[in-house]
Amino acid sequence: MRKNIIAGNWKMNADAQAASTLIKNLNEADLAEKTEVIIAPSYTNLALANELLSGTSIRLSSQNMHQADKGAFTGEVSAEMLKSVGVSYVILGHSERRAIFNEDAQLLKTKVDQALENELKPIFCIGEELKGRQDGKHFDIVESQLSESLFHLSANAMRNIVIAYEPVWAIGTGETASPEQAQDMHVHIRQFIADKYSVEIADGISILYGGSVKPGNAKDIFAKADVDGGLIGGAALKAEDFTAIINSF
Ligand code: 13P
Repeated sequence: MRKNIIAGNWKMNADAQAASTLIKNLNEADLAEKTEVIIAPSYTNLALANELLSGTSIRLSSQNMHQADKGAFTGEVSAEMLKSVGVSYVILGHSERRAIFNEDAQLLKTKVDQALENELKPIFCIGEELKGRQDGKHFDIVESQLSESLFHLSANAMRNIVIAYEPVWAIGTGETASPEQAQDMHVHIRQFIADKYSVEIADGISILYGGSVKPGNAKDIFAKADVDGGLIGGAALKAEDFTAIINSF
């Protein structure tokens, strides 16, 4: 059966000192054991995080990855490098990567393949912008995002994907999707995967919600049957808030 997952996407925040303090505070916190906890610090803090998390159950993710094995790609980081510092997940397709760094569906497809070939589990982000929601196109938009970058995968490969539904209008805005909006979309995503693959595959995939999740709204969102956890931005930068979110299942 699918796992409950809470992943913290730190984005471009926390220097080595701040990362170290945050991780030490998380290590001291009482975290619900049934939930898989993942943190995604910046590249520069991954090796440090790996050391500090040694012997704990908190898993490490990167926020991005290059699609090639190695070579003349100044400034980029490969899957193999990530693996060598204990990374097991990689966030791909975040709306900030899509919008600011022009990552398109075709590129994301190659990144998904590269991650899986290197035994990194993609946390694949999808979600509509405000206009898409206002025009009633949100279901169509996520269907395209899923089919263009994931639906070439075999059923077995698909089992290693985590999906994060992050409506762009809810990211960093303080505005969240209502628990009902989240549930409706998650059911839609799961059904779409079931139609392409099988109910068994769809039921095994964790679908996380992301977008202004805070300790005060997490419980209602996670109470929905098809919301299997959260991808947390701002609130993941405070150990107390992140812990409260983890413990709100
Ligand atoms: P916020 O929780 O800050 O809205 O960010 C969500 C997000 O983008 C996580 O990837």
